Amino acid sequence: MRLHRYDVCDSTNERAFAAIADGTARHGDAHVASSQTAGRGRRGRAWFSPLGTGLYASVVWSPRGPSASPEPAALTMAGGLAVLDAARALGIEGAWLKWPNDLIVGDAKLAGVLVEARGLDPARPTYVVGVGLNVRQTEFPAELLAERPVTSLALLGIDTTIDAASEHLLGALADRLPTTSTDPTGLARDFLDATGLAGASVVVDGPDGEVTGTVRGLTIETGLRLDTDVGPTDVPLALVRSVRRATVA
Ligand code: BTN
Repeated sequence: MRLHRYDVCDSTNERAFAAIADGTARHGDAHVASSQTAGRGRRGRAWFSPLGTGLYASVVWSPRGPSASPEPAALTMAGGLAVLDAARALGIEGAWLKWPNDLIVGDAKLAGVLVEARGLDPARPTYVVGVGLNVRQTEFPAELLAERPVTSLALLGIDTTIDAASEHLLGALADRLPTTSTDPTGLARDFLDATGLAGASVVVDGPDGEVTGTVRGLTIETGLRLDTDVGPTDVPLALVRSVRRATVA
């Protein structure tokens, strides 16, 4: 894994795309910044990226080989598991993944994953897997907290450095991202386990609106298996917008 470091950049995902565009990117390259001026999250949101308190990292993912075309949703899952592994290795307990990309402790967001692709070449699809992990922040902007509870390793009592967090995260990404091709069964099992949703009653925002059912399984190939009023249903991963626990009336 080659490491590109920036004191400040627009977005590490953007730096990865720039390297892809100018032909210098290699599979597995990592781009890590101390701050971002245009860090972005999912659904057009900004990602709060102050200097020296958060970890902002992106990895170029462009595997070769016949079985190497990853499902983007699987890369999001692998990225989420990697940041979960890193947080655990740094001492965090009780963290879980909120479908599809949020690392949560209690009810507060500690990290997020943004997988993007541009101008996909079907012969060699290339993705950028971006991860933001809150490390040393002791406060967050009011407008961010108005959206949702947010936390950091420091607020959770873990006193660590950005470099140590980066080492754990990049190692975990190097372990987890290949599983999208080499072990999709294990990846789906670990992801479902990390969400705590196996056997739960959920509401899935899917292709035809909301579906309510009980989670019976997950595979990368067939998606989320639900038992519903009308029988078993598989919702393909690419079509799952959100999954939340059903509230009991
Ligand atoms: C989310 O939860 O909405 C995803 C957040 C992803 C943020 C990371 S920080 C590193 C990389 N560069 C970006 O601009 N975004 C991702």
